[in-house]
Amino acid sequence: MHNLAVFASGTGTNFVAIAQASASGKLDARVAVMVCDKPGAAVIERAKEFGIETFVFSPKSYASKAAYEAEIVKLLDDKKIDLVCLAGYMRIVGETLLQAYEGRIINIHPSLLPSFKGAHAVEDAVAYGVKVYGITIHWVNADLDGGKIIAQRAFPYEGSDPAEVHRIGQKIEHELYVETINKLLCAR
Ligand code: GAR
Repeated sequence: MHNLAVFASGTGTNFVAIAQASASGKLDARVAVMVCDKPGAAVIERAKEFGIETFVFSPKSYASKAAYEAEIVKLLDDKKIDLVCLAGYMRIVGETLLQAYEGRIINIHPSLLPSFKGAHAVEDAVAYGVKVYGITIHWVNADLDGGKIIAQRAFPYEGSDPAEVHRIGQKIEHELYVETINKLLCAR
């Protein structure tokens, strides 16, 4: 059985999709820990409902990114984590975590990369008048949203409502993330 760590900062619908797939056996892996950089985020309650251990930290209370990432690396090592899945973790992964885990960290992003990198991908794409949207899962490296692409799924949308794009996109995210994690773990 493989061990996953899911990193999230917000609502956690992707976290829930992964945890549910793990609980039902659809995903051949267990979520060993959920890491969250936002005390009070809804995802923390979701993790508790699934009985999944959480590591919640406040970046401001550390002297540096290296300091909190060193603690995260120790935790991931202790839990023997095979794959780190960023799921709405709205923080740039730094050198300390990358040095220890590069090649074992993936991210899900709400655009067809390399278009629309960054924290406002859907809003930026709508403002641009995009007609084909999509979701990307990619390896995480030092280049923001720039790592090699693992999976993508596109969908057409002709309107101009970012909330609707998010709704359509998130349904796709939940399926694509579970499928992709399974494929990556099978290949190991
Ligand atoms: C997801 O839609 C994910 O694609 C996005 O954050 C959302 C988190 O939702 N990630 C990024 O924008 C990363 N740049 P969730 O908390 O409901 O899983």
